[in-house]
Amino acid sequence: MTESTPGGLENLLSEDRRFAPSPEFSAQANAQHDLYAWADANREAFWADQARELLTWSTPFTQVLDWSDAPFAKWFADGRLNAAYNAVDRHVEAGRGDRVALHFEGEAGDTRTITYADLQREVARAANALVALGVGTGDRVAIYLPLIPEAVVTMLACARIGAPHSVVFGGFSAEALYSRILDAEAKLVVTADGGFRRGAPSALKPAVDEALAKGETTVQHVLVVRRTGQDVAWTDGRDVWWSDVVDTASDEHEPVEVDAEHPLFILYTSGTTGKPKGIFHTTGGYLTQSAYTHLNVFDLKPETDVYWCTADIGWITGHSYVVYGPLINGATQVIYEGTPDTPHKGRWWEIVQKYGVTILYTAPTAIRTCMKWGEDIPAQFDLSSLRVLGSVGEPINPEAWMWYRRVIGGDSAPIVDTWWQTETGAIMISPLPGVTATKPGSAQVALPGIAAEVVDDDAQAVPDGAGGYLVLTAPWPAMLRGIWGDPERYKDTYWSRFRGLYFAGDGAKKDGDGDIWLLGRVDDVMNVSGHRLSTTEIESALVSHPWVAEAAVVGASDETTGQAVVAFVILRGDAGVGDRSADDVQTELRNHVAKEIGPIAKPRQILVVAELPKTRSGKIMRRLLRDVAEHRQVGDATTLADSSVMDLIAQGLATPA
Ligand code: PRX
Repeated sequence: MTESTPGGLENLLSEDRRFAPSPEFSAQANAQHDLYAWADANREAFWADQARELLTWSTPFTQVLDWSDAPFAKWFADGRLNAAYNAVDRHVEAGRGDRVALHFEGEAGDTRTITYADLQREVARAANALVALGVGTGDRVAIYLPLIPEAVVTMLACARIGAPHSVVFGGFSAEALYSRILDAEAKLVVTADGGFRRGAPSALKPAVDEALAKGETTVQHVLVVRRTGQDVAWTDGRDVWWSDVVDTASDEHEPVEVDAEHPLFILYTSGTTGKPKGIFHTTGGYLTQSAYTHLNVFDLKPETDVYWCTADIGWITGHSYVVYGPLINGATQVIYEGTPDTPHKGRWWEIVQKYGVTILYTAPTAIRTCMKWGEDIPAQFDLSSLRVLGSVGEPINPEAWMWYRRVIGGDSAPIVDTWWQTETGAIMISPLPGVTATKPGSAQVALPGIAAEVVDDDAQAVPDGAGGYLVLTAPWPAMLRGIWGDPERYKDTYWSRFRGLYFAGDGAKKDGDGDIWLLGRVDDVMNVSGHRLSTTEIESALVSHPWVAEAAVVGASDETTGQAVVAFVILRGDAGVGDRSADDVQTELRNHVAKEIGPIAKPRQILVVAELPKTRSGKIMRRLLRDVAEHRQVGDATTLADSSVMDLIAQGLATPA
């Protein structure tokens, strides 16, 4: 294992609590035990069945998997379809137009109810407007919006005309937005004046203006939704209001039929280098697996369930489990713009009660935050409608899992701990709620149709009870098709560590039953509140500040956020820090990181040091820094070029600033 493999596993593996589904739940569940056998019998035939069953193809496919150019996969390659037609129109055509697609809840308490028929008209208008703004099939559209219905509408409008979208999380900075616009060569940016966050309007349009002022881009227009009513700067000829071009457009639009392998979207995620990777997904395989997992892992009953995934559309979870999976399946869902504690800490539970939410999908960090606030808060609301609970984004510790089950799930709702990644496109490892006896803290088994393994350094499967690296051993329909514009990086990052196996970058162990426990990243990627951040990217942001000579960043364990960013910096002697206090230096540098990347990347702590621990080959030994950040005895430092460095750091930290 690499030096960064997290330890402390033994307590997890001695977990012996089991929660079998109730016979009533099992009897009505979408997924029964025979799903595994069906998939095992012939994996490709299984996926072909799912693709035919769950999607409507304008041209049926005859080919299933083409792996001849591995690791570049093609699924259902000769089939043709349209994603937006599948997500919206066909439900209307089947007489389900009156079903609610979206219950939108604004942070301020404003609401909108959008049926499938409403959504169809709105998406058609937006598609016509995009075309009028010069966007054609294959052109890229950057989306920088709060979680409002227009965000879903824009994604679907792009899909409707075959223009891949690139959603950039609204919490990212102008700099981050600029680099993503450049990399994808976006023709249009769709944004809003702002969104509501923590009880106040939070501007978005200024970041777009700032991004586009940084240099030449391919952007021709900026389409602006009015949400908060904030003043906005305006560039005539470039900027257009949504209300002027979308609301006035025709609500009739013929969906553009595309190949199954036509790119549906690009989504940037942090890797181990400073440059974010544009993960791109295509249409047929991605939609098949998002819909299949959404139906089986959450046991969705589209006629009766009210589903709520709390993720923002800026993340893959928002793509697969707010937009595509649920809408393909004709679900009724809640989308909520704001934060869980605005205007009070019971806001989420109030929403569950108000809409009678039956399926809730959220992240461990949110569960731990609610635990901290106290169980008397959810106790004030009727949560008895909840029947399935999901978790995603990071390992869920058994204590949080038990709390989630008891306090939110009334001691009966099955919990599905779902492991997957931006790259995998859809859920890969998870219990099935009517089948699996769940274990607090373990994602357990690969879904039917998915092949996962835990291997050692030599790519050999480890025995039960042992740990290693998580790999995926067979191609899957929703797999990334590459890194936008960089096929070599795709091969290097995922397929070069173990020949023929997809390396996920996660450490994992198998327990005595062969169930999988995820242990966190084994590379230089951190996981803060379920969001991926790259150590290198934050280090680059820090050294771009004139005061900083060198920086090393580690993810230190944090009770609420899973990991937190801790930075060690060496200041430049000549850079004018002057006699500023350590607090001032820390504040300035934290704000600088927020400006460069976004507030989510702000270090929890920045420690000024005189030296950094390096090996003789010059590699920073982050393991030792993590020991310092987590207040542990510093581990083996014998491979350091200068072994006194750790003493220096420890002494420096002991001295009050
Ligand atoms: O380390 C794993 C962790 O999140 C990483 C993927 O991050 P991202 O692409 O941002 O997607 C997050 C939402 C799918 C993985 O490599 N991760 C995700 N889900 C789990 C998890 N770790 C443990 N248990 C999970 N259920």
